[in-house]
Amino acid sequence: MTETGRIVFTPIGIVRSPFISTDGMPIQPVGAADVTAEVVIDEAFAEGLADLDGFSHILLVYVFHRAGPAKLSVVPFLDTVARGVFATRAPTRPNPIGLSLTRLIGRSGNILRIAGVDILDETPVLDIKPYIPALDAAGDVRVGWLEGKTETSFCRVADARFRSGGG
Ligand SMILES: C[S@@+](CC[C@H](N)C(=O)[O-])C[C@H]1O[C@@H](n2cnc3c(N)ncnc32)[C@H](O)[C@@H]1O
Repeated sequence: MTETGRIVFTPIGIVRSPFISTDGMPIQPVGAADVTAEVVIDEAFAEGLADLDGFSHILLVYVFHRAGPAKLSVVPFLDTVARGVFATRAPTRPNPIGLSLTRLIGRSGNILRIAGVDILDETPVLDIKPYIPALDAAGDVRVGWLEGKTETSFCRVADARFRSGGG
């Protein structure tokens, strides 16, 4: 952390995905099981990918680099009424950080091949963590305003509402 209270991160790499526009792209990995992409990690960080191959799924932490200005109240893709941004996965957050659980198909040197991609091309990657069900899968959960939404709902596609300069 800097003296001004700002936190400075250095991206470790970039996502190369088929999506150059948010229009019509998946809103969550669950709706994008067949969509593949590459995560190209900078050579300076490639040593940190050792042993990742043994995991079937990884959590990607990244920056919504093309999100519009932060909003504390948003109408999410999955609803028609405004919700507090922290009760949603909307990109227009005070700290525009995205989190996607993707399937790791394989690794070739500093390049990860992944499936289940709801991430724009050229998105800067901040971190990668292995998905570990014993740590990450909670039981006895409540899902708030998403109660009753089926997996089909999560397969809908995005529009321009959270895009920088978008309506
Ligand atoms: C609803 S968010 C969910 C992302 C992630 N799974 C999460 O929960 O944090 C996914 C949407 O964010 C938008 N998006 C993806 N990558 C982005 C980027 N780099 N900058 C701005 N918006 C992005 C697209 O509209 C995409 O459909």
